[in-house]
Amino acid sequence: MGSRLRRDRPLQNPIVRAPPRRAREFRCAARERGRTHVDTKKTGLVSSPALSPSYLPRDPRMPFSGKVVIVTGGSGSIGRATAALFAQRGARVLIADLADSGLQVAEELTAQGHDVVFRHADVSAEGDVAACVREALDRWQRLDVIVPNAGIGGRGAADELELQDWQRVLDVNLTSVFLCIKHSVPVMRQSRGGAIVITGSVMGLVAPFHALAYATTKGAIVNLTRAAAIDHAADNIRVNAVCPGHLESPTSIGGSAARAVDQRGLIERYPLRRLGRPQDVAHAIAFLASEEASFITGTSLVVDGGYSAQ
Ligand SMILES: NC(=O)c1ccc[n+]([C@@H]2O[C@H](COP(=O)([O-])OP(=O)(O)OC[C@H]3O[C@@H](n4cnc5c(N)ncnc54)[C@H](O)[C@@H]3O)[C@@H](O)[C@H]2O)c1
Repeated sequence: MGSRLRRDRPLQNPIVRAPPRRAREFRCAARERGRTHVDTKKTGLVSSPALSPSYLPRDPRMPFSGKVVIVTGGSGSIGRATAALFAQRGARVLIADLADSGLQVAEELTAQGHDVVFRHADVSAEGDVAACVREALDRWQRLDVIVPNAGIGGRGAADELELQDWQRVLDVNLTSVFLCIKHSVPVMRQSRGGAIVITGSVMGLVAPFHALAYATTKGAIVNLTRAAAIDHAADNIRVNAVCPGHLESPTSIGGSAARAVDQRGLIERYPLRRLGRPQDVAHAIAFLASEEASFITGTSLVVDGGYSAQ
């Protein structure tokens, strides 16, 4: 009975019995297969700390190999850069957006040999969000990461905003995040884990002038991230956010805001003396979604060149 138990259970405190060269060969073979686990039954190795899955890194160039990622707002500047980065790092990606230019993004990435699809969706509509998750499942049978990133700007103080404009910003920037979490959690729970990385904004940490609805949604995302993180931690689903500062991209929400308040004056307010690039945000999102961030949940990572540190 005792020996049967030992054979069936993964070994916790492994020791290498094979010569070092053999161990190295098995390690390389496992890496090539995109896995870090070495089958100790097949190899005859008793295993070692160096061979244990928790010690052996995945191929650093392909950390998302075999993973499935949904990026909402993937037709826009941050979403496009994020979808491309996940795809380049081995993930299969579903881009969801109201703007059909995301189809071109998907086609370009597919032409480069990546597995990327586009789905037209309004993320403020529950049926559309549910359909995105279903499509990822139908295609790839799993969902590992979702990036609720779609958003709209919303200028105006309280006395300048119509109720319907206020409501639309809340629907697109905040309710959509709730819907993404609601529909991805049951799927992630089944596969014993996942990562949700929400695009917030530095305007959720400090208040901008005349952007009440936008600032409200981005402020809410910071605490929504904490609350969802503790709700789903037991299922090994991590929930984090990024809070970008203004981006230099001319198509982006912040870019148009920056033009409105004089771009040069704005850059002076950034200690790093530049505005953000979509890739700056994409890298932060990919980090939070990765195994390297496996002990990080409930946090909002500021990506703002020092803007909010002053
Ligand atoms: N650009 C910035 O300076 C900046 C700064 C901080 C935070 N952000 C946040 O980053 C996220 C991405 O913004 P971006 O800079 O890439 O802007 P963007 O305008 O380039 O991209 C936003 C995308 O969201 C899509 N979208 C809007 N409403 C949608 C809906 N109802 N359903 C589906 N898709 C919808 C748009 O079509 C667009 O492709 C947003 O949440 C934004 O608030 C941007």
